[in-house]
Amino acid sequence: MTGKGRTMNLVLHVWRQKGPDQPGRLEIYEARDVSPHQSFLEMLDDVNEQLVRDGKEPIAFDHDCREGICGMCSQVINGVPHGPLPHTTVCQLHMRHFRDGDHIFVEPWRSRAFPIVKDLVVDRSAFDAIIRAGGYISAHTGGAPDGNVVSVPKDDAHLAMDAAECIGCGACVAGCPNGAAMLFASAKVSHLAIMPQGRPEAARRVRAMTRAMTAEGFGNCGNHYECEAVCPKGISVRFIAKLNREFLRSFLK
Ligand code: FES
Repeated sequence: MTGKGRTMNLVLHVWRQKGPDQPGRLEIYEARDVSPHQSFLEMLDDVNEQLVRDGKEPIAFDHDCREGICGMCSQVINGVPHGPLPHTTVCQLHMRHFRDGDHIFVEPWRSRAFPIVKDLVVDRSAFDAIIRAGGYISAHTGGAPDGNVVSVPKDDAHLAMDAAECIGCGACVAGCPNGAAMLFASAKVSHLAIMPQGRPEAARRVRAMTRAMTAEGFGNCGNHYECEAVCPKGISVRFIAKLNREFLRSFLK
């Protein structure tokens, strides 16, 4: 359905759950007069405004930047984390990718390590625990050095930037049949380990972050590659191989 001024009517099946220990269920809502130019979150905003007007509780969902940067908009749309468009966060998904009369199923991330807080909101503090375990450089570096003081091969710089694109949204975990956080952790381990500033702590970092993954209840990688398929930033599974190499190398030290 295209065309200026034309709108769609949709049927939403939305997961509603009052709290972490409450039972949840899919409830049906109508989204009427949806513009194809609206984002998915703007469409949900309109549904919520109608719910409030009707004296009902609005749907709780996470968002912050709405620009594909912060990784907060964690929704499974029609069974796919972040929905049907590759390399696109929910906040960047526009309604022109749906058709008039569509039924759309909207659910939260499903993973043991990401308990549901309410409706579509999950607790992703398990990711924070992994970062706290080692996702940083602790060396005291003083003031900002000149850009060319530490020379970095161009290929390494590009590879580190590819890994650093991870926005920590958790889609990789939601998409993984094992609920593994390997793509996330490997991106964080890699972008630091590839750069010379991150090498001195690389061995300690990879062991600590791997330990934290297990402690937080994430599953093991089964090489399904679903994580790469649903990652809105296109993080490659080759970083998982890099994490594994870094882990083995840490025992040679
Ligand atoms: S709201 Fe920030 S990435 Fe979607």
